[in-house]
Amino acid sequence: MRTSIIRGIAAAGAVALLTLGTACSNEREGSDSGSSDTKGFAKDSLVGVALPAKTSENWVLAGDLFTDGLKEAGFKADVQYAGASTTVADQQAQISSMVTKGAKVIVIGATDASQLSTQVAQAKEAGATVIAYDRLITNTPDVDYYIAFDNFKVGQLQGEALLNGMKAKKPKGPWTIELFSGSPDDNNSKVFFDGAMEVLKPLIDKGDIVVGSGQKNIKQTAIQGWKAEVAQQRMDGLLTSTYNGATKLDGVLSPNDTLARAVITSVKSAGKPVPVVTGQDSEVESVKSIMAGEQYSTINKDTRKLVAETVNMVKSLQKGDKPEINDTKSYNNGSKVVPAYLLPPVIVTKENAVEAYANDPKLAPLTK
Ligand code: BGC
Repeated sequence: MRTSIIRGIAAAGAVALLTLGTACSNEREGSDSGSSDTKGFAKDSLVGVALPAKTSENWVLAGDLFTDGLKEAGFKADVQYAGASTTVADQQAQISSMVTKGAKVIVIGATDASQLSTQVAQAKEAGATVIAYDRLITNTPDVDYYIAFDNFKVGQLQGEALLNGMKAKKPKGPWTIELFSGSPDDNNSKVFFDGAMEVLKPLIDKGDIVVGSGQKNIKQTAIQGWKAEVAQQRMDGLLTSTYNGATKLDGVLSPNDTLARAVITSVKSAGKPVPVVTGQDSEVESVKSIMAGEQYSTINKDTRKLVAETVNMVKSLQKGDKPEINDTKSYNNGSKVVPAYLLPPVIVTKENAVEAYANDPKLAPLTK
């Protein structure tokens, strides 16, 4: 894993924090910085789980898995989702309420990485441990742990898949592509994009890959709220502005499945051939699309594993043990390096879908 990249700082304010971040990152490398030493707590304590809006299937699944997994482990569970429109305010209120109810651990999938510092400070003040789940919480010292799939690796795999898919259709470049990235308030969006660009940028610089619209900057490619309709609109606009004539679109970097399907819908409605489109999350409709030969790739980030590992963290904290950590340098949140437990993501195309989903009762039947 590369140490020079700071994965934790949200796009907004990143420049100002970059110098500070690098210094901290180097200084604290290898240390379990800032995590609270717990003395353990009662086995039937309350554990709060604050999840964002249901912007992709993985969040829907996570809620159910947390409710069951925490109860099975003997805890009381308070699992909440932010509403679809007032996501930030909802989540802030939900976390405060978990603190008031005496939650010993609060697991947070942030709606907006940079808007939770007051609430996590309240949690710390009350003696709770804060775990950032899937998405980092930025600009606060009050996050104890981060658990996620390796987001930078997700981006790299997407970049490689885009390239491989295009090469399979057209062995020699130059290839014409468009870039999409996730919501700017989600810290993951920049990390995914950076991972993908590590693969694609050298080829763009050489002229082997051409971004047809010229929109290469993350601000130009971002899709607010990870919303399908926003992605579809942007793709509609790109088709009109750039692909109205002879220019053929070979590939689209899409950061997740919801946006991938929106891109494909847009291209099909315009009567154009479907380019190579990447994705993430292994959503049912996207796995079907991959098997049908439309979407090219997705990423398998098994939510069952991520939730199970998070529940394991909670169990360790309950016993007064330090949870298992396997990364102490990648995630500088602008205030500290957050000790992380990262799981490996898996790239899935039609070629390895059977094997990749063999143990997933929901997805395996779709690959037969
Ligand atoms: C998650 C992705 C998901 C996206 C939209 C990201 O933070 O890591 O798996 O597709 O949010 O919900």
